[in-house]
Amino acid sequence: MKKTVVLTGITTTGTPHLGNYVGAIRPAISMSKDDNITPFYFLADYHALIKCQEPDRVRQSSLEIAATWLALGLDTENAVFYRQSDIPETLELTWLLTCVTSKGLMNRSHAYKAAVAENETTAENDPDKGITMGLFSYPVLMAADILLFNASKVPVGKDQQQHIEMARDIGARFNHIYGEHFTLPQAVIDEKGAILAGLDGRKMSKSYQNTIPLFEPEKKLKKLINKIKTNSLEPGEPKDTSDCTLFSLYQAFATPDEVAQVCQRYDEGISWGEMKSVLFEKINTEITPARERYETLLEKPTHIEEQLQEGARKARAISAPFIAQLRDAVGISTFSAK
Ligand code: TRP
Repeated sequence: MKKTVVLTGITTTGTPHLGNYVGAIRPAISMSKDDNITPFYFLADYHALIKCQEPDRVRQSSLEIAATWLALGLDTENAVFYRQSDIPETLELTWLLTCVTSKGLMNRSHAYKAAVAENETTAENDPDKGITMGLFSYPVLMAADILLFNASKVPVGKDQQQHIEMARDIGARFNHIYGEHFTLPQAVIDEKGAILAGLDGRKMSKSYQNTIPLFEPEKKLKKLINKIKTNSLEPGEPKDTSDCTLFSLYQAFATPDEVAQVCQRYDEGISWGEMKSVLFEKINTEITPARERYETLLEKPTHIEEQLQEGARKARAISAPFIAQLRDAVGISTFSAK
């Protein structure tokens, strides 16, 4: 049976936090162990340049993200784990796709439109202020990532759904002009929330500065958990699990039985201090073995590099012949006999 190609990229601008872990990394890693799937997971470092022009941050983030996935037990036998910028065919394909992508489609991109809308609120009267061609053509680069490996499923957050639809449109346009070369991808969106609340109760997100970094040292993890916002109910007063940040975090790590027990303790009036320590223990127990591996890995970046190079080798074994086929299809191949 042919395996399903599942592909996703992680933009290398930040440090992985618990929200990334629960919403994206943990499910992706468990998928990497499924024999019916060939996962392609990559560090989207070209995408990082669109929003971050701090070289040290991009470098550090790439290292931390790679170490995170390896420490959490990504199965690199089955998964192809690589760095986007190690695959030159990505950029070649980006150009081939750019030439079949209508500007009107890109005008409709939410990310671009949001930037324009933001500019329109200022007095300067320049809708394109600070908007680079990188931001404008971002969906084409993303389409190239996906189409290059003929991925059929692309797990992403809801904010990325439009980009997958654009990848379909762009791939279909290319197929229409040059013949059936690309599989048209589908987004896989975890509708059941998997959205973790952050310190202040809003969605955990770098842009709200309310995150708990995944591999924070134990003491700091405890401190951060103690900072999570609660209401002012006293110990002994029954508490409501709905709309409770502590509870929703607990749920993301505990078994249904453990959750049921904690529900009962809410009814009985568990104190917030006690609940915070229950939550800390739960998260810390799950994370500690991986945290130790993470710290060891960060001390040996060459080991991480070897893994990424091996991933790039596997990826290019597919992308190099494929790009040759695509070059031929558009008429830019050599004159010599094939
Ligand atoms: N743009 C995506 C994000 O910010 C990351 C990404 C880049 C990606 N290329 C991709 C995701 C291809 C899925 C498929 O989340």
